[in-house]
Amino acid sequence: MAILLSGRTADTQNSLKLDELTPREIVAELDRYVVGQTAAKRAVAVALRNRIRRQKLPAEISRDVLPKNILMIGSTGVGKTEIARRLSRLANSPFIKIEASKFTEVGYMGRDVESMVRELTEVAVDMTRQVAFDEVRPRAEENVEERILDILLPSSSYSYGVGFDDEAGEPEATSTARTRSKLREQYRRGELDERLIEIETQDRSNTMIDFVGGQGMEEMGVNLKDMFGTIFPTKTVRRKTRIAEARMALLRDETENLVDMEQVTRQAIERTQSSGIIFLDELDKIAGRESGSGGPDVSREGVQRDLLPIVEGTNVNTRYGLVNTEHILFIAAGAFHVSKPSDLIPELQGRFPIRVELESLNLDDFKRILIQPKNSLIKQYKALLNTEGITLEFTDDAISRIAEMAVQINQTTEDIGARRLHTLLEKLLEDISFAGSDLEPKHQRLDAVFVSDRLGGLVGDQNLSRYIL
Ligand SMILES: Nc1ncnc2c1ncn2[C@@H]1O[C@H](COP(=O)(O)OP(=O)(O)OP(=O)(O)O)[C@@H](O)[C@H]1O
Ligand SMILES: [Mg+2]
Repeated sequence: MAILLSGRTADTQNSLKLDELTPREIVAELDRYVVGQTAAKRAVAVALRNRIRRQKLPAEISRDVLPKNILMIGSTGVGKTEIARRLSRLANSPFIKIEASKFTEVGYMGRDVESMVRELTEVAVDMTRQVAFDEVRPRAEENVEERILDILLPSSSYSYGVGFDDEAGEPEATSTARTRSKLREQYRRGELDERLIEIETQDRSNTMIDFVGGQGMEEMGVNLKDMFGTIFPTKTVRRKTRIAEARMALLRDETENLVDMEQVTRQAIERTQSSGIIFLDELDKIAGRESGSGGPDVSREGVQRDLLPIVEGTNVNTRYGLVNTEHILFIAAGAFHVSKPSDLIPELQGRFPIRVELESLNLDDFKRILIQPKNSLIKQYKALLNTEGITLEFTDDAISRIAEMAVQINQTTEDIGARRLHTLLEKLLEDISFAGSDLEPKHQRLDAVFVSDRLGGLVGDQNLSRYIL
C-alpha cells in the first residue's frame, strides 16, 4: 500500500539525481544530515551546479570553463568530512574522498597522487557498468531461464521420455513444449529452487592472481588479472548446485556477456573527465613549506608540487586509458590548526579560489546534531538497543544537558567539535549497553538528572575528562 507523505520518502531518496538538483535543493538535501554550515553547503552546491551548466554549453566555450575548486577550512569535528560523505551518497557523479596525508612524493615508497585519478576512474567504471548491467538484466534473466530449462529438459529427451502423450496421438514437439512450459511456470514460482542441476560457469577463483598483483601493480595502471586473462583465457567450471544458486551464477555470466565493456569503459572515462569529483581531505596535513628543519616537510612540499598538475589539468594513465583531469572538481578540506592555507605553496593556493570557512559549533548546534539529522546519534543508539528490546527515551532536558557538557568540555580541554558528543554518549550509555537485553525495565527514560549523575563528576574534573571523555 502506498502512503503519500509530504516531503521525501525513503524511496524517492534513491532516485534523487544530483545532476538534476538545483543548488537550493542540494543544500536542502545536505541539511537533512549536516547541521548549520550554510556557507560551505552553498559553495559546494554552486560548484556542482556549474558543472551541469557547463555541460550544456557549446563545446568551444565549455572547454574553457574550468571548475572552481573549493577549500573548506574549519576546526576539527565541525562537519567537513560529513559534508563530503553526504555528497558522495547524493552524487551520481564519480566521487571519491581521499586523505591528502596518504600520499608521498613521486619516487618515494607509498601512494603517488596520480593514484587518486585512477581510483576515481575505477569508481566511474563501476557506476557505468552497474547501469549497463541493470539495462541488460531483463534479457539476461530470460537467457538464464532458457538455459536452466534446457538443462532440465535436454533436447535428447525429446525422442524418449514423455511417451504416454504419444498415445493420445499428440505430436512429440507439442508435448515437449507443454512439459517445458509447465517447468517454466514451476521455475518462475521458485518451486524448483532446491533441485540440483549441473551447470557450467566461468571460473572466478583467480584470487591468487589478485593477491600477487596487490596494490603496487594497480598503481602502475597494470591489471595482472587482465594480463593473465589473455594468457590463460577464462576457464569454465562444471559444478552441481541448487537451481536457486545456479540462477545467480548464470545471471552473472549472462549479464557480463551482454554488456559491451569497451563502451562502458569509454563512457566511464568521459564521465570521470566531465563530472568527476575528488574530495581531498586533510589538506592541512601536507601544508608547510621547506622549513629548513628538513624531514617530512620536504616530502610534503613534494606532494603539493605533484598535486599541481593534477588540479590544473593533466593526463593520467589509467588501466582504462588516458584520463584528462582538467574538468575534475576538487574540494579540499582541512582544519588548518597548525598550518595556515598560506603555508601551502602559492601555486596550490591559487588553484583553490573558493574559500569557505566552517563555523565552530555552538550549544544549539550540538542539540540539533544530537536529534535532528536523519540517523542522528540519538536515533542510532535507540535503534541499536531496540534490537535487544530496550526502548530508550531521552527527555529534552537530557539532550540540553549533554549538549551543555559537550560545550563545557570542549572549552576546558580540547575543542574536538561534534565528536565530543560521541565520546559523551558512549560513556553515558556504557552501563545500558553492557546490560543489553538483561536490563529491567525495558523502557529506559533518561533525563537531565541521569545525565548529570553519570557524567557530572567527569565533566567537573578537568583531568578526568581529559582522559575519559
Ligand atoms: N555540522 C554537523 N552536523 C551534523 N553532524 C556533525 C556536524 N559536524 C560534525 N558532526 C558529527 O561529528 C562527526 C565528525 O565530523 P567530521 O568528520 O565532519 O569532522 P571534520 O570537520 O572532518 O573534522 P577533521 O578536521 O578532524 O577531519 C561526524 O561523524 C558527525 O557525526
Ligand atoms: Mg575530516
